[in-house]
Amino acid sequence: MTMTAHHQAADVLIIDPLDRGLEEQLRGCGMRVTRSSAPELASLLHPAAQQPDVIVIDTRGARAIPTSLAGVKRQHPGVGVLVVASESDPTTLLEAMRAGANEFLQEPITPTALEQAVTRLIAHRAKPAMAGEIFAFVGAKGGVGTTTAAVNVATALAKVAPSQTLLADLHLTHGDASVLFGAEPRFSIIDALENTHRFDEAFFRGLITATKAGPSLLASSDRALLPHGDPERFRAVIEFAAQLYRYVVLDVPRSDGAALDALEAVSQIVVVANQELAAARSASRLASALRQRYGRDRVLVIVSRVDKQAEISQADIEHVVGAKVEHMLPSDYRLALQALNRGRPLALDNHNALAAGFRGLARALAKVGPEPQRNGSGGSFFGRLTGRG
Ligand SMILES: Nc1ncnc2c1ncn2[C@@H]1O[C@H](COP(=O)(O)OP(=O)(O)OP(=O)(O)O)[C@@H](O)[C@H]1O
Ligand SMILES: [Mg+2]
Repeated sequence: MTMTAHHQAADVLIIDPLDRGLEEQLRGCGMRVTRSSAPELASLLHPAAQQPDVIVIDTRGARAIPTSLAGVKRQHPGVGVLVVASESDPTTLLEAMRAGANEFLQEPITPTALEQAVTRLIAHRAKPAMAGEIFAFVGAKGGVGTTTAAVNVATALAKVAPSQTLLADLHLTHGDASVLFGAEPRFSIIDALENTHRFDEAFFRGLITATKAGPSLLASSDRALLPHGDPERFRAVIEFAAQLYRYVVLDVPRSDGAALDALEAVSQIVVVANQELAAARSASRLASALRQRYGRDRVLVIVSRVDKQAEISQADIEHVVGAKVEHMLPSDYRLALQALNRGRPLALDNHNALAAGFRGLARALAKVGPEPQRNGSGGSFFGRLTGRG
């Protein structure tokens, strides 16, 4: 797994610095600084080009804003742009705003003002304005029931937020979510990743498949030739989805470093394990890498296909994983298989422990309180989530 450390230094790209002052000040506050020129800035226009966190444009010495800046900003709206100018210069300010600059600094440029401006840009980038909440499911091992959990949690959430819940299968190919939903997608995650520069609501919704169970689906593809996965594009897809949907559930391929590296905007990352020692150990490793990268509070481990007779108990797993395991989903092979064959997520049914487990997990993730009593009001918010509304 290729994941970067949690407190990763921000990448700052300085375009045509007048002197070494800016660069040294930024290095001094722990940023990784690269310098480049206005013509080279145009290379960032490529949708797949690796983007810095922040671009600093130095216009001191009466230099104009590079013409490619506006295009770069349109292509990669998440990149923060800081324009540095020499004196009160209304033309540069106006040009900077038109080109999409987020911050503007005038001389004298103090280290504090510079650091604060860059920090604001990075903070803004880490938390884009989003309406929806994102929950990511990653398996500790293959076959533990990750896709089943993601699909059923999305199905339960879609009861709460009909037509506002999306399941995005981030497996580039051979993902199983569409099978579990009995859906036949025309477009896939690959179309989304390849077209992040074209995203608007209509385009994105055009890639989505409706499911009978409720959630909208951004499916995996069945293409044989794979493009190279890129965290920046995964981020763009995830964050755009969260602007259109109240709940976004991700089925994340555990072996795709680019997808695992793109989860900044996710509220909860659910690591799915089972009662095999190998799975518990790899859950422990995966959870600790994810905690380091995204913070302790955002990672939880659940156990799927729980068998009461199994040699490894909940306490054993908690010991290996080093954290409490709040959700234990029972094993029910017959129901799981039947749901798969019918293309109908089992969370749609009542009166079985596995469905109740999925709904409980959905409630916990969405923070909507415990399952109500049967005499609760019929059409309530909770009622819909428990399937009794
Ligand atoms: N709680 C459960 N009880 C019994 N069987 C289950 C349960 N959850 C899933 N299964 C079965 O386990 C198999 C694998 O499930 P699933 O595809 O969800 O796992 P996965 O972790 O996503 O696998 P992959 O690594 O292939 O993506 C399926 O046959 C499914 O029906
Ligand atoms: Mg799967």
